[in-house]
Amino acid sequence: MANVMWAGRFSKQVDAEVNAFNSSIAFDGRMYRHDIQGSIAHAEMLGSCGIISEEDSLAIIGGLKDILGDIDSGALRLDPNAEDIHMFIEAELTKRLGSVGKRLHTARSRNDQVAVDLRLYLRDEIAGIRALVCELAAALIKTAKEHTETIMPGYTHLQRAQPITFAHHLMAYVWMLLRDIGRLDDAVKRMNYCPLGSGALAGTTYRTNRRQTSDLLGFTAPMPNSLDGVADRDYCVELCCALSLLMTHLSRFSEEIIMWCSWEFKFIELDDAFATGSSIMPQKKNPDVTELIRGKTGRVNGDLVTLLTMMKGLPLAYNKDMQEDKEAIFDAVDNVKLCIRTFIPMLTTMRVIRENMRSAAAKGFINATDCADYLVKKGMPFRDAYKITGTLVAQCISEGLTLESLPLEKYRALSELFDEDVYDAISLDTCVRERKSEGGPSPEAVKAQIAQAEQILGELA
Ligand code: ARG
Repeated sequence: MANVMWAGRFSKQVDAEVNAFNSSIAFDGRMYRHDIQGSIAHAEMLGSCGIISEEDSLAIIGGLKDILGDIDSGALRLDPNAEDIHMFIEAELTKRLGSVGKRLHTARSRNDQVAVDLRLYLRDEIAGIRALVCELAAALIKTAKEHTETIMPGYTHLQRAQPITFAHHLMAYVWMLLRDIGRLDDAVKRMNYCPLGSGALAGTTYRTNRRQTSDLLGFTAPMPNSLDGVADRDYCVELCCALSLLMTHLSRFSEEIIMWCSWEFKFIELDDAFATGSSIMPQKKNPDVTELIRGKTGRVNGDLVTLLTMMKGLPLAYNKDMQEDKEAIFDAVDNVKLCIRTFIPMLTTMRVIRENMRSAAAKGFINATDCADYLVKKGMPFRDAYKITGTLVAQCISEGLTLESLPLEKYRALSELFDEDVYDAISLDTCVRERKSEGGPSPEAVKAQIAQAEQILGELA
């Protein structure tokens, strides 16, 4: 009988297929550093509480550090047949230290061990993602500063609506990203409690010091309930929610970029390094990066559904179902990082075609609201002004004209309030310049929000 850890209770070897089925080392192996970090804190606590001798504690810590160094350097390879990373490292420690190594798992279970490892691992990953989101927001702000005067159409229902600037449009995404950072920080706040010491589910009879391990590992405090300590995966769900929403933002942005580089829009041109050609159509330049980001958003949403569905029927406390948490949350984390890393250079290298943005804004009666507002400013109630402008637009359409080219007598036929100055009031530049309300697209209003965003980002970064 092979020397598995639970050999005492069992009289048969586990079936080879079941062994492979059970094993999670192929995906939880990536947590080796955090597993060792958790074990070192645990061993230190066991030593200082007198649960194991100081000498054994030091030997275990030394052995764990050696194992870490050896895995880092490649001298020690993870055994693909091990059940999981926790079993592998403990077995390796015992191989190296003999019976001293067998003392590490005193007053601990894999249930609290895996819970602490995953929290430590994800806390680090969040820090990495957060830095990338900050970098993306900073890149957008930088581009926005160059385009406070770049007029483009703003849309509702994908119909040209009112004129805005490219900077105004980009800044909308900056605010979404700043909220994403807030959500990540919030997730960390609730995640940062230490489950170690919960044991299998019911704590332990040893006189442990959970505050000590919590402090050593940089947690806010130990989790107050040992059942919750091992059964909780809210932090995975919460993080995945934040990542899904972050991906939703990237996906909407991607969708716009895909449209903008179509011939129908041609507002931007992607750098050759961030587009691909077609195997058959020589004229093609495809925005694959943005399409993949849009596609991967579905995948991250899928990870969220996996986590929620996996948890929804689980009785307290630990159930093996929960091993499925890792592939889902790792997939989400990996893909979000990949997407942002590719998105940033793609954005910073794309060429903005100002003339096309402007000429698109000059079409489509985008200044109709301003024409109505002109009458309102001369005393007419808005609803009446709205109606008259609608009639003017209909006239223009039937005569193939625009509001700019419609002769003054046609205006005056509908209202005596119209004068020569209407042409200035409805010019594209006036329409943008005068939209100075807080948060609006006028260059000065956008510069104000850029300053505000920069300050917030500076405090967050
Ligand atoms: N590999 C397991 C997981 O990821 C570790 C915890 C195992 N605990 C247990 N009682 N079988 O969830």
